Formats: sequence, C-alpha cells, structure tokens
Amino acid sequence: MTTTHPAPAPIAAAIPHPLDPLTPDEIRAAARIIREARPLGDSGRFVTIELREPSKEALAAPSANGAIPREAFAILLDRDSNTTYEAVADLGAQTLRSWSERPGIQPYFLFEEFGDAVTITRNHPEWRAAAERRGADPDNVHLESQPAGLYDNPDEEGKRILRVIAYRQPKKDDAPWAQPIEGLVCLVDVQRREVVRLVDEENAPIPKGSGNYDLDAVGPVRSDLKPLDIVQPEGVSFTMNGYELAWQRWRMRVGFTPREGLVLYQIAYQDPAQGQEAAPRSVCYRASLGELVVPYGSTGPGQYWRNFFDSGEAGIGRFANSLELGCDCLGSITYLDAVWTNDQGEPVTVGNAICIHEEDFGVLWKHNDIFQDGNGSAVRRSRRFVISYFATVGNYDYGFYWYFYQDGSIEVEIKLTGVVLTQGVPDGAQPQTATLIDQNLSAPNHQHLFCFRLDLDVDGPVNTVHEIHSEPLPAGPENPHGNAFCSVATPLTSEQGAIRDADPACARYWKVINPARTNAAGLPTGYALIPGETVAMMAAPDSSPGRRAGFARHQLWVTPNAEGERYPAGDYPNLHPGGDGLPRWTQADRPLENQDVVLWYTVGVNHIVRPEEWPVSPVHRTGFALKPWAFFDRNPALDVAPPSHCH
Ligand code: NI
Repeated sequence: MTTTHPAPAPIAAAIPHPLDPLTPDEIRAAARIIREARPLGDSGRFVTIELREPSKEALAAPSANGAIPREAFAILLDRDSNTTYEAVADLGAQTLRSWSERPGIQPYFLFEEFGDAVTITRNHPEWRAAAERRGADPDNVHLESQPAGLYDNPDEEGKRILRVIAYRQPKKDDAPWAQPIEGLVCLVDVQRREVVRLVDEENAPIPKGSGNYDLDAVGPVRSDLKPLDIVQPEGVSFTMNGYELAWQRWRMRVGFTPREGLVLYQIAYQDPAQGQEAAPRSVCYRASLGELVVPYGSTGPGQYWRNFFDSGEAGIGRFANSLELGCDCLGSITYLDAVWTNDQGEPVTVGNAICIHEEDFGVLWKHNDIFQDGNGSAVRRSRRFVISYFATVGNYDYGFYWYFYQDGSIEVEIKLTGVVLTQGVPDGAQPQTATLIDQNLSAPNHQHLFCFRLDLDVDGPVNTVHEIHSEPLPAGPENPHGNAFCSVATPLTSEQGAIRDADPACARYWKVINPARTNAAGLPTGYALIPGETVAMMAAPDSSPGRRAGFARHQLWVTPNAEGERYPAGDYPNLHPGGDGLPRWTQADRPLENQDVVLWYTVGVNHIVRPEEWPVSPVHRTGFALKPWAFFDRNPALDVAPPSHCH
C-alpha cells in the first residue's frame, strides 16, 4: 500500500477479513499445499489461485469472522495432457480440501502459452517464407497471440489453439499495430506445441504508414497550459481499515480477482435517519465485471474469428496496470496493490493497481431564487469518491471506475482507450465493415459488451425487481388534453420473463425494491439501475460469438443468487461452443419475487472507429448508474455544508 500527500493512515487488519483477497503468502501456501498433496508433473501449471469466498449465509452468521476458514480456490492445467483440475486448499488447516478433474473444458490461457505460440510461429519455416514474400523481416515482426474463438474447422476440433497474427515493425520500438500483414494467421496448438495450419491469403499489401504517437512522432507539444494542482492540505475525507473503506456515509469493501479485476463487497449506507447506532443500510452485497466480450464485425481470414472474452479467455485482472501518481491519478491518492498468480503458482504483485481518491464533481444541487435571499438561493458542490483500476489487454486499455456520490447514487464508468485493431485494405478499396484510417489501413467495426454482475441487497437480501417504463395515457376523460403520461411498473416474476432489453424511447429502467421496507411516503425502498449507452449484439444468434456470448443478446437478466453462478458465459468460456452461463441457468425459470436477486447488466459500446481514434484513441466513456429510489424520504444530500470560499 502506497500513499502520497496527506492520506489516511491505513490500519493493517490483524487477521484478514473473510472477503479480503489472498495475500502473497497465502498464495504461496496454497501452491505448496496443492503440490504436496498432488505432485504435478513437469507440465503442471497454475491457471489461478484466488480466494474461495465464503457463502453469504456463512458470512452473515453471528461471530462469522473467526469461524470462517480461509480457503484458496485453484485451477490447474497439465499442459502435456491438456487436463484441467480444480482444487480447494484450506489455508488454516494446511490441507487440500478438494481436488477434481474437469474433463472437456479449457481454462483461460497461461502467459506461457501466449509466449509459446509466438515462438512456434516465428520458428515456423512456412510462416517465415510467407512474411519474407510479403516484404517483412520475420525476425522483426510483432507477433500477437489471440484467443482463437471456436469454429467448425475439423483440424481445430478439441485443440487448445491460439491464432497468431503479425505486424511489420520497421523499427524495434515502433508502435506495432500500423502495418498488419493481412491474411497471414498461424494457428498454434499450444498443448502439442505445433502449428495446426498456416493461413496465407494475401489480400492486401502491408500498409506503410506509422502508428507512432511518442514525442518524436508528434513533434512539438503544446506549451500554453498553466499548472493546475489538486491539493487536500488537511488530508482526505475517507478512512481505510485493510480493505474496508468509509467515505461520507458510504461503507464498502474492496477486493480483486484475476478473472474479474476489481470487486466491491458490502456496499452500504450509514443513514442518519435510522439513528447513529443503527447498522449501515445494505445496498449491494457484491459487484463485479462478470465478462467482457469484444466481437468484431469484419470478414476475411485474418478477421472473422475475432471475438475476445477478455475476462474468461484472458483473465482481465491479470492485466492490471501499476498506476502512476500525477499521470493516471491526480491529487491525494491512496493505492492498493493487486495480486494474481503466475503459471508456476507464485504470487505476482501489481503495485498501486487500485486507485482510491475523492474529487470535486461540480454542482451537487442548486437553486437561484432571484426574488428571495435567505432560503431561496443556495448551491452545494458535489464531492465524489472514486475506486478505479486500468487493465491493458493486448491493444486495448480499459479503465473501470466506481463513483460514490453524496446523494446516494453510484455510477460505473468504463474508460476505453488504447489502440484499435487494424486490417489491411487493397489499393483503392472502401471497406464495408471497417473505417479507412490511413493508406491501405482500416479499423474494423466491433463492439465492447461489458456484463456486470450486481448482487443488490436493498435493505437486505430479499428483494423484487420491477421494470419501469413511461407511456402516455389513452386519449379520453383521463387525458382530455393529450399531455398525460404515467410510469408503469411491472414485476419481473421469473427468470425467463426477466430477460430484457433497454428501450430509451420509453425511458425503461429497472428497480430493485425491498417489499418489506417503505420510506416515509409508504413507497417500497429501492435502488434503480439506470441504463446508459447500450446496443444489441450484431453477431447473429447462431454465429459463434452469438452462441458463446449468449448473455450479450440482452441487456438485462435476473437470477436468484446461487453459489457457482458468477460468470455470465459460464465458468470456462474459452474454446467453449456456447450456451453456458445465463442462457443455461435461466432455463430453469426460477422464481424471482422476494428472492435474493442478482442483476446482470450489459453495457454495450458499438465501435465504428473514427479516424480521430488513430493511432491511439481518446478515452471513450460509458457506463450506467444505480440511484436510490425511495430508499430515502427526500434529498439525502441536504446536509452537505455550503462551500466555504464563495466569492
Ligand atoms: Ni473499440
């Protein structure tokens, strides 16, 4: 943990809270327990070692903390036999609790496998000849291993494959994405460590332009900005106790997993209306990114198979950045490290991965009554609390930001930046499914579909979800002037009927209510999920990405909270034919009223690339909001103090 400027003095938790991520020592211990109980051959690797979270029920039990064993969940891969195992190690008892083989599934790729595929490709004589024939030096070509997707090519069946694509790199430190060698794809079986097939369909020349954006490439930089400092001379307004955070009336715990990245637990609000001694009111038990899929919409041998599950095929948390003060984050920043496990079962610590700070956010509320002095005019400034991290998966960079506001709102913002994937274009051609961004260079159409898993517990776990939309009243005695419209709430009573799409034209949103709790006006307490940018998945339902990312065909799914249902495309979407996860679970059509509900909401970005997004994209912001809806009696931010320096 690193801090700069006056920052809270974090109190190191003496014993880990049951939801704290595994420490590096705990990861080492888990690897040792597993190795001793089940000797791994030379080809045994660890895909992951992470906290096995206690169940919600276990955690809710009185005096839970001391009684809950710390357990590590591990996935192992025997590379030679392509066999996957799951293990649970009890870190207190130092014993292996369970060990099971998982036939027929493929865990996400090891870093070693990404590297092997590159080496095997570079040493492959036919690939070298093809690169040379196209005018590229095979030893100075950037190679990128990409998850292969799953297609019905007979020679790919049952194999653990990566597709390796190539970019000419005139100089070693050139940005690698500007000169794709289009139509040259090497399929590598990383289990047998051999080339399955070389695709060599020369359908475009190698572009000659540069994708560099370093200072040498851009020339003189602007020099007309005056300094802008953010200082908190008296320190920050939040406190940390281990992974527990408190800011204003918000309470929460931070976690991190290699598969999901940032996880927030036990988000709650200390409501003064309930009295100072009352426990914080629960809003959300667990919130995380369940999956991120990026399906591309271009054709051709180097393109059609691109649909990346950055969580389930890659483990997005493993790509967390180490953040730099003054660059990634500005002001009085507190950082937390993130820890994941390398292929050998050793902990990898990403220093300063999670950025925690507060920032000014403009006007919180305001009214300017020109006829009245005292009670009529007032303004309050908004301060928000931010927990964020950045992950770089290949060419793309994703920032994930959780904002907490003084009015009880929560926002999730995703910042998309980095470099777009590229596609070579023949001379003079106008691509139908891509944007021309340079000579012989285009950027294919694609989508980024982020599915968030939100276990909301509004004033407790027993909740009901309503869908709300607005509609005009029919013309007639109830609506004589044609202006009347109403808001209609429909309960989502079971899983099949809770597979829903966003519809901004009727202001559709969803609200999680606690039917047993009401506010002062008698309305059930609730939190509303307000959609932001959304889009339908363009890939056909029976296409490979359409089947594998079935969750992304709709923006909202609701399920009853169930152990083992954490990933919307299933536990092992890598090289999976599809149908797992939400589409499978919800076939049971389980009842949803007065249940511990989980919302699965997909943020959709339809990315038709703008030329201005080359050679590196300005940040695109997207996300959604969770807003209190009768959770309070009135504006809960009335008591925010007026600004002290108005002049
Ligand atoms: Ni994009």
